[in-house]
Amino acid sequence: MTPSATQTLNHPGLGAGHDVDVREDATPVHAEDRPDAAWWRQAVIYQIYPRSWADHDGDGIGDLPGITSRLPHLRALGVDAIWLSPFYTSPQADAGYDVADYRDIDPIFGSLTDADDMIARAHELGLKVIVDMVPNHSSDEHEWFTAALAAGPGSAERERYMFREGRGEHGELPPNNWESVFGGAAWTRVTEADGKPGQWYLHIFDTKQPDFNWEHPEVRAEFESILRFWLDRGVDGFRVDVAHGLIKEQGLPDTEEERTTMLGHSEHEHGPEGVSEAAPVEEAPRIDHTKRSPMWDQDGVHEIYRAWRRILESYGTPDRILCAEAWVEPQERAVAYVRSDEMHQAFNFDFLTASWIADDLRAVITSSLHAADSVGAPSTWVLSNHDVVRHASRLGYAPGTPRMNGISATDPQPDRELGLRRARAATALMLALPGGAYLYQGEELGLPDSTDMPDEFRQDPTFARTDGAETGRDGCRVPIPWSSQGPSLGFGPGASTWLPQPDVYAEYAVDRQEGVEGSTLELYRSLLAARRELSLGTGSLTWVEGYAGDVVALTNGSSQRDRLLVVTNLGEDAVALPAGAEVVVASGPLEDGLVPTDTTVWARWS
Ligand code: GLC
Ligand code: MG
Repeated sequence: MTPSATQTLNHPGLGAGHDVDVREDATPVHAEDRPDAAWWRQAVIYQIYPRSWADHDGDGIGDLPGITSRLPHLRALGVDAIWLSPFYTSPQADAGYDVADYRDIDPIFGSLTDADDMIARAHELGLKVIVDMVPNHSSDEHEWFTAALAAGPGSAERERYMFREGRGEHGELPPNNWESVFGGAAWTRVTEADGKPGQWYLHIFDTKQPDFNWEHPEVRAEFESILRFWLDRGVDGFRVDVAHGLIKEQGLPDTEEERTTMLGHSEHEHGPEGVSEAAPVEEAPRIDHTKRSPMWDQDGVHEIYRAWRRILESYGTPDRILCAEAWVEPQERAVAYVRSDEMHQAFNFDFLTASWIADDLRAVITSSLHAADSVGAPSTWVLSNHDVVRHASRLGYAPGTPRMNGISATDPQPDRELGLRRARAATALMLALPGGAYLYQGEELGLPDSTDMPDEFRQDPTFARTDGAETGRDGCRVPIPWSSQGPSLGFGPGASTWLPQPDVYAEYAVDRQEGVEGSTLELYRSLLAARRELSLGTGSLTWVEGYAGDVVALTNGSSQRDRLLVVTNLGEDAVALPAGAEVVVASGPLEDGLVPTDTTVWARWS
């Protein structure tokens, strides 16, 4: 099946006798962008998790030469750019988000020459390259941190990190009550040169990830220099890790939160317990937005990104970009990161976390577009990444089931078939929305999480730091199946992989799906081809009235072409398309011309 938007899926009886009386709202929710809008305002960016995409040297861990060799897959898929999770020198205590040298490549991934080759090959294929920047913390094996430990209390070296004296009579208590995002205390006490317990240092994440002191001019200068290092090597931008965490509230006051989550509110009562197919729809946890957590979203972060933007702009056009990983609520505060003199994009995590409930989807799409429009930014839609349960698994639970941090064999298992059906419908909805979008490796295959990984393989520090109470993120990080045969399903020449591939992964392999009509891979290719051909990323968005409340219906409009009608049916009954609607692509088969449950259809509607 050739991926082309002009291809029409012919269904006998389409339209015949099934017309429905629907109409567009009077006013669009979001106006059309300029046809010559910058690339990143409409780009689809594919996230590569280097450990798990393709292995060249056979050690069971993905690497840069592996990535370079597989890039044609992405050209054929039809994305605009790639974002790579960190490949820098690292002891891999948090899978590379613990960087020991920001200007070199970890030997497990290759060398700087391999990075240059990868960037050059991507550019040759018309793919832009975004790399990960991790400014909140380094590895404890970074030379600045080892120097800080050696230099002792009061030294200039310690000023570049967050060292403090402990509380209690002998400094035996941590400086405040903050807990690590990964569980346990956010402070670790060091042993000083005299062999005695001494100061404490802050780590919002793992013990091996000490937080930098971003009030220090040397830290700022160092990162500006690192940005230039990679820009000079030709990268097209940076995904900025924990962008909302760099500045901490003055005086490091105790937090009222029970546990430091990325959103600065407790998710304790929303763990995996009680999750089942029959789980009732629950209200989202209540967040008191007036009380901002002292470690997140402090106003001081913005001047850092304004300085970074100026550096990127000095590289001219086409734009080099910044994308914020900022788990910030409410949306009005989140879009502050994408004001015109700051970052270009910020992941829309409200969309990622929205339930599979029509009212919720409509609400989050409307509010996201309004919030982004208020600062002139595009919205950046996303459904999966290396930190969350893949949407093909997440959507295999009852709508409204609280979000889980990983799924283990003892948890209620997601319904794989239902999850995939909804995931395809969700992606088709996402890719019809104006703005940019991120895809996570393997979602184009409909991959589920590994949900039965034996605990001895788990590497996410969260698992150990919570004594297994939280399963952690390994389930979404399993190496990709490229072929249904072979020792590591085509991932590489080695027999084993750093995280084991579940048996079912063979069913999802690229070679099982390539050229197979109706496969998830071909669906993604068709969606991306149509999205590009119709310039959906720069279109307007208008809600469509007349369907029942459990149907999400909208048009993506443009002065250059017919409007595209998008219908996502979350209800039980199949629904009709209006007269004259001509199907362009559908996330699943229609039933006698009707859009069945958990299906999205794109149709030209003149
Ligand atoms: C971000 C990354 C995550 C990492 C954390 C600490 O959230 O996406 O994988 O563990 O930051 O760097
Ligand atoms: Mg390797």
